Amino acid sequence: MKTAITEMFAIEHPIIQGGMHYVGFAELAGAVSNAGGLGIITGLTQRTPELLAKEIARCHDLTDKPFGVNLTFLPTFSAPPYPEYIAAIKEGGIKIVETAGRSPEQYMPALKAAGIKVIHKCTSVRHSLKAEKIGCDAVSVDGFECGGHPGEDDMPNMILLPRAAEELKIPFVASGGMADARSLVAVLAMGAAGMNMGTRFIATKEAPVHDNVKNALVAASELDTRLVMRALKNTERVLKNAGVERLLEIEREKGSKLQIADIHDEVAGVYPKVMIDGEMDAGAWSCGMVVGLIHDIPTVKELIDRIMVDAEQLIRDRLMGLLGAESKASLKVA
Ligand SMILES: Cc1cc2nc3c(=O)[nH]c(=O)nc-3n(C[C@H](O)[C@H](O)[C@H](O)COP(=O)(O)O)c2cc1C
Repeated sequence: MKTAITEMFAIEHPIIQGGMHYVGFAELAGAVSNAGGLGIITGLTQRTPELLAKEIARCHDLTDKPFGVNLTFLPTFSAPPYPEYIAAIKEGGIKIVETAGRSPEQYMPALKAAGIKVIHKCTSVRHSLKAEKIGCDAVSVDGFECGGHPGEDDMPNMILLPRAAEELKIPFVASGGMADARSLVAVLAMGAAGMNMGTRFIATKEAPVHDNVKNALVAASELDTRLVMRALKNTERVLKNAGVERLLEIEREKGSKLQIADIHDEVAGVYPKVMIDGEMDAGAWSCGMVVGLIHDIPTVKELIDRIMVDAEQLIRDRLMGLLGAESKASLKVA
């Protein structure tokens, strides 16, 4: 399948694996790229730019296909050394960067000078238009369903994607709630040029995380995510667990007076405990509502092949099948 996104990133299928803290290592990014999608290494999971350079080199050993790096611009006072991370990305020969969090405006000149294509992930039409204005090549439009940070507008993809299509000139992919061929065909119909998946890719054989995480995703339903940190305007969608229940209890007690320090134990340092040690009650970690559509743990290639085969069948059999004989004849597919 050819779309503006497969052309822009020189990939076979319009499927991107979004950056994921403590999940987006070389093993997963390499597997996604080898399967014809776009794998993405999560930059800030590597604690230093030197470690990121090593992770990029490891991924080059695993695949000859294009892969990208995610750079998340955090709302923090002690910002990571972004220019050094960008230097590691450039020296690693990376040509695609997924930015997220705050606007990448400040870093666009450096990224563009390095010949890097930038896809910015954002949760609103206004932020997408800003990304277009500052020279991003594409956007990843992230609906309210998404795992991670859905923003504060609470706009689901059924509305957000067609609105993005109405306003944007640059191509966009749909992010949040994407799991299978039905997701892909639906978002193509709404104007997207592909889809970005996070949570679905965690439940794959190659995702380098503890089996407890994968099994928890298969066991969970679409009712099992919670929104945390709303009072801090840093909303995150996470999988419910005992740590998250504690966190929500503190949030209820403190109300609008909540400070990040109040929930430190439930949000800080949680990822390695969950993803490496498999401590499923450790606290808040991102997970999308799409968890309700995850029923197995295939290889990345099985997952991507299945999506593409089923998508073609959906278009040919289900959608074309809905057309009358005259329309079919005019399309020469009867
Ligand atoms: C465990 C996990 C960690 C994530 N970490 C990051 C991150 O560090 N940076 C980022 O930009 N997005 C992060 N995301 C968001 C994903 O890149 C993607 O936008 C999101 O998962 C899409 O929604 P979905 O989970 O419904 O597919 C994370 C998502 C998950 C599930």
